[in-house]
Amino acid sequence: MVHTASPLLLLLSLALLAPGLSVRQCSLTGKWINDLGSNMTIGDVSDKGEFNGTYLTAVDDVPQNIMESILLGIQSITDDQPTFGFTVRTNFTESTTVFTGQCFMDRRGKEVLKTMWLLRSNADDTGDDWKATSEDGPASPTSATKLES
Ligand SMILES: *[C@@H]1O[C@H](CO)[C@@H](O)[C@H](O)[C@H]1NC(C)=O
Ligand SMILES: *[C@@H]1O[C@H](CO)[C@@H](O)[C@H](O)[C@H]1NC(C)=O
Ligand SMILES: *[C@@H]1O[C@H](CO)[C@@H](O)[C@H](O)[C@H]1NC(C)=O
Repeated sequence: MVHTASPLLLLLSLALLAPGLSVRQCSLTGKWINDLGSNMTIGDVSDKGEFNGTYLTAVDDVPQNIMESILLGIQSITDDQPTFGFTVRTNFTESTTVFTGQCFMDRRGKEVLKTMWLLRSNADDTGDDWKATSEDGPASPTSATKLES
């Protein structure tokens, strides 16, 4: 009994491990939602690590003004958990935001993005430069999880 059961158990455990093994590399391509409810869709990453996509923010002073904005980025190409940077040209206000982060496989094998950003608003003149850039606090980096690949 034991002799026939153990190969079966081995096969079963291999089958359970296989899906985890096949997604050890974190891929930016897909649809993401961050912990503030903003959505982002990233297309195919080129062999040079370039990518583009769209960003739909959930946070703005005037929610009805929110529109899809385009993003353009590049990632490291030699790592299973690549680092990346991208720029969002905000479509509905005059501002530009840069994001940098890393694409991780978490302990449960789910893809997660850990990012920080800097937002540049449009200042009328150099005297207003000091207040034109806002940043993500180092204590509150943004997390995003994948909705679909
Ligand atoms: C955006 O990415 C697609 C591949 O998903 C590529 O064909 C296209 O040239 C890219 N556009 C820009 C502006 O980089
Ligand atoms: C993000 O996507 C989710 C699921 O598709 C949707 O429920 C949500 O309304 C979207 N958020 C925005 C800001 O569009
Ligand atoms: C802003 O987004 C809307 C909706 O996706 C699009 O129709 C429009 O062309 C965009 N404008 C610019 C300047 O990107």
